[in-house]
Amino acid sequence: MVTGAAGFIGRHLVEHLGNRGQTVIGVDLRPQPAGAAGRHVVADLRTTDIRPLLDGVSSVVHLAALPGVRPSWDRFDDYVESNVIVTRRLLEAGAQTGLRRLVIASSSSVYGNQPDGAMNEDQPPAPISPYAVTKLAAEHLALAYAARPASVLTSVALRFFTVYGPRQRPDMLISRIISAVRDGREIRVFGDGSQRRDFVFVKDAVRAVAAAVDAPGPSRVCNVGTGEQISVTGIIDLISELMGRPANVRVEPHRAGDVVSTRADVTRTAEALGFRASVSLREGLRAHIDAVRSESMPVGA
Ligand code: NAD
Ligand code: UGA
Repeated sequence: MVTGAAGFIGRHLVEHLGNRGQTVIGVDLRPQPAGAAGRHVVADLRTTDIRPLLDGVSSVVHLAALPGVRPSWDRFDDYVESNVIVTRRLLEAGAQTGLRRLVIASSSSVYGNQPDGAMNEDQPPAPISPYAVTKLAAEHLALAYAARPASVLTSVALRFFTVYGPRQRPDMLISRIISAVRDGREIRVFGDGSQRRDFVFVKDAVRAVAAAVDAPGPSRVCNVGTGEQISVTGIIDLISELMGRPANVRVEPHRAGDVVSTRADVTRTAEALGFRASVSLREGLRAHIDAVRSESMPVGA
């Protein structure tokens, strides 16, 4: 079962698992996206009875959440409910039905501002946004339920670094840059643009999820990133170069909760899950740009 199946990462994951011949039930507040295959249940995980959904389910990938960092200051109750209480409801249902494997979407944001260098899973997390606090709480809950005596559950928390690619959420940087450059609109840069991100292509991210579903072994926390990083200014320049059009930048204040730099240490994930990202930034951006261009193509063109 994939929760958040109609979301950005969820849609790619359902497609990927389907291509591997796995039977998937998608669950989301939103209806099944056009063209998607498999069973899809429209349900609100804050209120629905989750146990019947788990009937015959061997593993759950829990992606459903409120995902944005910056709005989480103003809507903390919603974030707690969607990200923490929902995770607890799912874990309770799983405990009652004997769920064996949970892969839960965590976030690089749980690290907060660490000393320079790659972020590794043994560093103490230090979230600096309400969003990151809720992701860390959900991650810990998943591990706590798995560690209960007599529990048959193992949990793998995947700390995704910033994921991009076709159908990326419209509030995220790269999709905003591509559509602004295409339309000749301004890109708002929060701060001086020197903040750096480890951007991971969505098809790599879903391969990591599939590896976590399959991997034998104990509960653990694993980074999903590339081990490389680029600044906001750097990625604007690169996209502008790839699109062959100028970028117009408007500088706005730094946003609270935004970390200065993210970069994954990929060692543990390579060892535990046999996963390494393989899509280069240029290659991934080309795919993302092509997807945005084809979305904006008039019907019949
Ligand atoms: P998204 O918003 O595109 O997808 C989340 C989906 O969950 C949405 O379709 C939404 O309708 C659904 N959902 C939310 N609350 C629900 C509820 N109560 N019941 C049923 N469905 C519900 O987000 P995304 O970018 O695909 O992110 C997926 C997961 O990965 C999230 O947990 C997010 O925190 C995490 N994550 C994402 C990134 C990234 O860069 N996109 C990075 C780190 C972590
Ligand atoms: C993203 C996801 O939204 C989170 O769900 C996820 O947890 C997080 O990645 C992660 O890595 O764990 P973020 O890194 O803020 O969060 O992703 P973007 O929205 O793509 O922003 C990247 C950077 O660009 C941030 O520094 C942000 O402030 C900046 N930005 C974003 C702008 O300067 N302008 C914009 O219009 C949007």
